[in-house]
Amino acid sequence: MAKVLLLNGSPRANGCTATALDEMVKVFNEEGIETEIIQVGNKNIRGCVACGYCGKNGKCVVDDLVNEVATKFEEADGLVVGSPVYYASPNGTILSFMDRLFYSTSFSKHFKVGAAVVSARRGGNTASFDVLNKYFTISGMPVASSTYWNQVHGFSSEDVKKDLEGLQTMRNLARNMSFMIKAFADAKEKYGLPEVERGSFTSFGDGK
Ligand SMILES: Cc1cc2nc3c(=O)[nH]c(=O)nc-3n(C[C@H](O)[C@H](O)[C@H](O)COP(=O)(O)O)c2cc1C
Repeated sequence: MAKVLLLNGSPRANGCTATALDEMVKVFNEEGIETEIIQVGNKNIRGCVACGYCGKNGKCVVDDLVNEVATKFEEADGLVVGSPVYYASPNGTILSFMDRLFYSTSFSKHFKVGAAVVSARRGGNTASFDVLNKYFTISGMPVASSTYWNQVHGFSSEDVKKDLEGLQTMRNLARNMSFMIKAFADAKEKYGLPEVERGSFTSFGDGK
């Protein structure tokens, strides 16, 4: 059975971001896709210290929720990352988590489907959305889209329940993501995954 992990970057387990993710989960259930919501934003997650431990050991030197989720991410077919908007960016905890999750894991993320979801009271949504999508697009992960940028508005869960277009966007996003996961599974059987070239790592003008 296909599986989607949903990360909630909010410290509030039942807030606005949670309400948006719950709306997606209802659709995943209808689509026969297994889900797991992981509460990240209320944990004490430090940022990457660029120590290089993960390059040699395949996991982060800080043995916390990042390493736990890494194992689940390797098995998953899709990843949704949800965050409240803080000062027009994703919240700091989810950024620390995503930096370490993506940097410390060497398994292939190729054609796992990604989706970012943001929740704001008023502004900063699209800037935050852009930041989160970049983890996917550097990792060969196709990004699922919807009928608007994936955002809800509110200060409380009750506000988000009144944001009917926001909730509709979440449902359409989950439907599109489900379709992509199923279609990619069939396509992998038929064609295999596309080749990935590696080896060039250009930092300077002379290519060295
Ligand atoms: C530190 C902090 C910064 C915030 N910055 C913004 C902001 O830049 N724009 C905005 O619209 N809302 C901002 N908010 C409000 C939250 O993003 C918004 O209420 C969100 O929907 C809360 O989601 P949650 O209940 O999942 O935490 C901020 C809230 C906090 C605590």
